[in-house]
Amino acid sequence: MQKSILIIGACGQIGTELTLKLRELYGEECVVASDIREGSDSLMQSGPFELLDATNYEAVEDVILYHEIEEVYLMAAMLSATAEKFPERAWNLNMNSLFNVLNLAKENKINKIFWPSSIAVFGPNTPRDMTPQNSIMEPSTVYGISKLSGERWCEYYHNKYNVDVRSLRYPGLISWKTQPGGGTTDYAVEIYHDALSKGNYQCFLKEDTKLPMMFMDDAIRAAIELMDSDTGQIKVRSSYNLGAMSFSPKEISESIKQWLPDFSITYQPDFRQSIADTWPSSIDDSKAKEDWNWAAEFDLTKTTAEMINQLSKNF
Ligand SMILES: NC(=O)c1ccc[n+]([C@@H]2O[C@H](COP(=O)([O-])OP(=O)(O)OC[C@H]3O[C@@H](n4cnc5c(N)ncnc54)[C@H](O)[C@@H]3O)[C@@H](O)[C@H]2O)c1
Repeated sequence: MQKSILIIGACGQIGTELTLKLRELYGEECVVASDIREGSDSLMQSGPFELLDATNYEAVEDVILYHEIEEVYLMAAMLSATAEKFPERAWNLNMNSLFNVLNLAKENKINKIFWPSSIAVFGPNTPRDMTPQNSIMEPSTVYGISKLSGERWCEYYHNKYNVDVRSLRYPGLISWKTQPGGGTTDYAVEIYHDALSKGNYQCFLKEDTKLPMMFMDDAIRAAIELMDSDTGQIKVRSSYNLGAMSFSPKEISESIKQWLPDFSITYQPDFRQSIADTWPSSIDDSKAKEDWNWAAEFDLTKTTAEMINQLSKNF
């Protein structure tokens, strides 16, 4: 199937791997990467790239018209930990970039949008275990407030203007190809790097802080499967709960010790602990399973094996 795709924020943790996968599936020339900065060599050399500010409506429109773009994956955002330091900048980036693509779809300049939400839409009053699709949503972080507002606007644009926008509430994402971009779950990537390079890791969350997580291959596949599903299958137009595994820093360190028995971990919680304390510990994603057959493939054991195998090639 031939279609032209634009990824905005393509040089980040998800965007890099998403772009490479979409290019593999749909052809290099059909998938345009864009960001406010240049990305890794593998990304820059694998197909067309545009320097683009997601908050500049005219610039986004120009790129869309020039490349005759049909689908947009909007990955540009300020993540949870960084957003607490720059609340207004986070709000402006996260909301204006979304409004720009929603309005371009409303004007029929693009057909379909993928926009990631997050487990950060939940808050301290949400039931933490197996958090349901519809639950109390009172986020207490800047990032969570922007994601929940974004979800409401996505649903509104779909209901009011028939905009085909699709969304997933990603948990913390683990990848070996790209570094994480300032989130509260970044520890679950850093820990593998430090385990291999130093043999120890100082964790910024407490040992028993259990959070929902997902390996990047599952996250990318989920986005592409959601976008390729028939319109009739998509019953949720705010954002789907999406799950794979849940673990605490202690549990991930035990799983690393299966490979590196001398690995040790210490705990020095910082401001990110108070963000994690408001998030779910596990997610009920039965709606995604029911509507478009979502099934995760990576659990903690498989994730650790893949992370250690891939990262150890660099040491
Ligand atoms: N990584 C996770 O664990 C996670 C979890 C839940 C949701 N998400 C969501 O997924 C999306 C992508 O996350 P990520 O982890 O890849 O983030 P990231 O920070 O690694 O990447 C974001 C990219 O956006 C770019 N960007 C920033 N401002 C821009 C602008 N004005 N115009 C164009 N590009 C701009 C950055 O340069 C960066 O390359 C975000 O919406 C994020 O909220 C991520």
